[in-house]
Amino acid sequence: MNAVGSVDQRYNAVLRSLHWLVFLAVVVAVLTIELQDVYAKGTPGRLLMRTTHYVAGFSVLMLMTLRLLARAVLSTPAAVPGANWMQVSARLAHLALYVLMLAMPLLGIASVLLAGKPIDIYGFVLTPPVQMDRALSKSFKNFHEIGATFVYILVGLHAAAALWHQFVLKDHIFRRVL
Ligand code: HEM
Ligand code: HEM
Repeated sequence: MNAVGSVDQRYNAVLRSLHWLVFLAVVVAVLTIELQDVYAKGTPGRLLMRTTHYVAGFSVLMLMTLRLLARAVLSTPAAVPGANWMQVSARLAHLALYVLMLAMPLLGIASVLLAGKPIDIYGFVLTPPVQMDRALSKSFKNFHEIGATFVYILVGLHAAAALWHQFVLKDHIFRRVL
């Protein structure tokens, strides 16, 4: 058995799988929305990119909810040993990633529905449950776009920290999530 706090301890297989599924869904959400401008407005290609963005974003919400539930019932390995500041920043970064990955899809969904538009996800159509509110829709859209910048920064820092652990500190941190 591993010592408490050993970097060799792994997350449960469910949490490991969910970690990479979320990553994949985020990559698809970002790529599709960035690629939509390759297509002219009103073309099927642009619509496909937009719909795929919604589906991938909605998947992030579902997967993160599952992950929170799984985290509540499954045990997680002790924190990676290291300086206090490293442990605190890792905890804060993970917490911020959870908040962001839940807030982004919720802001996106709210902005589309408040614009009076339905959302078609896997053929399941969400219709606006409330009256159209263009101003509020615009605010949510702005927060969604600001949030996107934080996604780039936080995921970038998180991945850089993981690579630094793996290749500079050589503590095999990837084993915990692979
Ligand atoms: C974690 C999930 C999500 C991520 C990382 C994400 C990311 C992004 C990014 C990077 C942009 C482009 C921002 C910009 O132009 O500056 C964007 C735009 C947008 N997203 Fe999301 N998004 C997510 C989920 C969703 C969901 C679930 C919906 C709605 C169902 C949604 C609706 C939109 C809309 C309407 C726009 C504006 C597109 C435009 O102006 O052409 N997003 N999103
Ligand atoms: C959308 C992208 C990502 C999100 C939202 C994300 C989120 C998280 C979260 C919240 C944790 C803490 C574990 C937990 O509480 O369940 C974690 C751990 C981890 N992630 Fe990510 N991650 C992402 C991408 C990546 C990438 C690209 C890498 C590698 C290059 C990576 C490597 C790791 C490693 C090694 C751990 C274990 C760290 C530890 O146990 O302290 N992640 N990730």
